[in-house]
Amino acid sequence: MKHLLPKLAFSPDALTPFVSEETLAYHHGKHHAGYVEKLNGLVASTDLQDLSLTELVQRATGPVFNNAAQHYNHSFYWRCITPGDGKQPSGELLQAIERDFGSMAKLKEAFTSAAKTHFGSGWCWLVEDSAGRLRVRTSDNAGCPLVDGEAPLLTCDVWEHAYYIDHRNDRARYVDLFWSAANWDFAALALATPTDVEKLILA
Ligand code: FE2
Repeated sequence: MKHLLPKLAFSPDALTPFVSEETLAYHHGKHHAGYVEKLNGLVASTDLQDLSLTELVQRATGPVFNNAAQHYNHSFYWRCITPGDGKQPSGELLQAIERDFGSMAKLKEAFTSAAKTHFGSGWCWLVEDSAGRLRVRTSDNAGCPLVDGEAPLLTCDVWEHAYYIDHRNDRARYVDLFWSAANWDFAALALATPTDVEKLILA
């Protein structure tokens, strides 16, 4: 099975000032594409070549894990951002957020703080844990919550390559602007239909 770079679901100039067309050209077109190319090279003609991306993330180690998880994490991230229209969570997702964080404001505060203070390269996530509770966490480097049996709902890439062109070293500004692009419709789908997530992010 050949792994493919998913297309962005939005125009590359639609997310300024959060991320610019130039950032997306590098982030999607070079960094993410590079992980996909390396992954294909690593699994070709091995017993890993027929595993799905989720299976690779859950089972692989070393360079195969790193490139598979970065392919998964980036594909997930592209669905978590969308041209903003001020939409907020509703329905089942909002109920779960209020149950486990108290309010949307408290969730945003926890996520923003975790994303801003995560040391070095990694990811900030809203996940549903194995007990069915929502929580905020980060992961180092290529780390992915699937490995810990958690279902990702929303992520923000905090590797420098995600923000350096637009915001230089100011990760805090990038994280604050993330909320203008957060795709709550996708997070709601990920919560409602976790088994469809791989298909959704690779479409
Ligand atoms: Fe990235």
